[in-house]
Amino acid sequence: MRVMENPVVSFAAVSLVFIGVILLYHSSSYFTNQVILFQKEPLCNQSNLTTTNVEADGDSLGSALAKGSMGNKTVMIAIVNKAYVESESSMLDIFLSSFWVGEGTRSLIHHILLVAVDQIAYDRCIFLNLNCFRLQTDGVDFEGEKIYMSQDFIKMMWRRTQFLLQVLKRGYNFVFTDTDVMWLRNPFTRLSKNETEDLQISTDVYHGDPWSKRNQINTGFYFARSNNKTISLFETWYDQKDKSKGKKEQDVLVDLINGGIIEHLGLRVRFLDTLYFSGFCEDSKDFRAVTTVHANCCRSIHAKVLDLKVALSDWKRFRKLDANSTMNPQWTKHDWCWQSWGRPKQGNGHNHHV
Ligand SMILES: *[C@@H]1O[C@H](CO)[C@@H](O)[C@H](O)[C@H]1NC(C)=O
Ligand SMILES: *[C@@H]1O[C@H](CO)[C@@H](O)[C@H](O)[C@H]1NC(C)=O
Ligand SMILES: *[C@@H]1O[C@H](CO)[C@@H](O)[C@H](O)[C@H]1NC(C)=O
Ligand SMILES: *[C@@H]1O[C@H](CO)[C@@H](O)[C@H](O)[C@H]1NC(C)=O
Ligand SMILES: *[C@@H]1O[C@H](CO)[C@@H](O)[C@H](O)[C@H]1NC(C)=O
Ligand SMILES: *[C@@H]1O[C@H](CO)[C@@H](O)[C@H](O)[C@H]1NC(C)=O
Repeated sequence: MRVMENPVVSFAAVSLVFIGVILLYHSSSYFTNQVILFQKEPLCNQSNLTTTNVEADGDSLGSALAKGSMGNKTVMIAIVNKAYVESESSMLDIFLSSFWVGEGTRSLIHHILLVAVDQIAYDRCIFLNLNCFRLQTDGVDFEGEKIYMSQDFIKMMWRRTQFLLQVLKRGYNFVFTDTDVMWLRNPFTRLSKNETEDLQISTDVYHGDPWSKRNQINTGFYFARSNNKTISLFETWYDQKDKSKGKKEQDVLVDLINGGIIEHLGLRVRFLDTLYFSGFCEDSKDFRAVTTVHANCCRSIHAKVLDLKVALSDWKRFRKLDANSTMNPQWTKHDWCWQSWGRPKQGNGHNHHV
């Protein structure tokens, strides 16, 4: 007892006990890890689990969503196929670089769920260590570049509507983004947080009133809240698949909107201003406000990639400007996209709309 009263000795005794506890803890967690490692293989063949039967296995979508989403059950979804991931400077690469050079966008990458419609796109996604989900479609090859409005292009578009309906049904809000959309700022700072707004959708051309159906929508970027109304909207939308032969899903949604679905379902739909959600159809007038840039009004992947790269250089040039600079830089003309429609090169200084 006398020994313990000596502060130095009792400190040493306490330390010894402490060290002992730490050692015990470490060896036991080391041991547990070993057991877990051993069990992993036989319990789930990971590569098998991810490559086959992904969709039939309801849980894999559930866990992909859980992993990718923010605390508020909101996730960003992009869909890729082989044509978007191949080559050393692919559309996917540009999409990802935009998060890197954007303002406050780097951490958003963890909340993107990249949906791959073929094996090569999936392998590339895994290689990049992103959140990946393999979307299967029976008997359809989604590998090649889908030329605008070809049969396969239309099929792929419908498949994505069906997939997004499933996401809503699972209670997840999502931002859907095409990979030809560059994220230069965090869009959540420009999207309305009002929960009564069910759908916020980008436009090719914006007419100034966020509630006017005259705005020309673009389904390449939108935010949908999960609720009964949006689920009904997506169900109705997808139901049109076989009734609207040869139409792409965007045109079908336009028809539904013109036919009064917003009023019918009591939806609140906000049309997004190109000042923030910019595109090649209508460039944002202000680099200080621009949030996303969509390579819309463009016909081929090749042209989109080239003009997106140019737009990304414009952005980088803007970022190098002095914070106090009053210069408002201009976007370079999107000549590759302009010519992708078979039009001659533009003269300088002419604005173009499609
Ligand atoms: C794992 O793979 C082996 C063959 O490689 C197979 O026999 C087994 O059923 C698989 N297990 C699961 C859970 O898929
Ligand atoms: C996947 O599972 C099958 C059997 O179900 C097996 O033959 C194959 O080797 C597995 N593939 C991998 C990559 O584990
Ligand atoms: C979800 O949370 C993120 C991060 O806190 C936030 O930026 C975003 O605005 C939220 N989204 C919604 C729809 O409330
Ligand atoms: C959301 O919008 C509705 C309709 O305009 C409005 O009545 C409500 O006050 C708004 N809620 C918030 C939190 O701003
Ligand atoms: C949505 O629909 C489900 C199933 O029909 C119902 O249980 C739920 O109350 C509805 N929620 C709202 C907010 O209307
Ligand atoms: C910008 O202007 C403010 C006030 O006019 C000044 O304090 C600041 O130093 C300037 N910043 C730069 C980078 O010139």
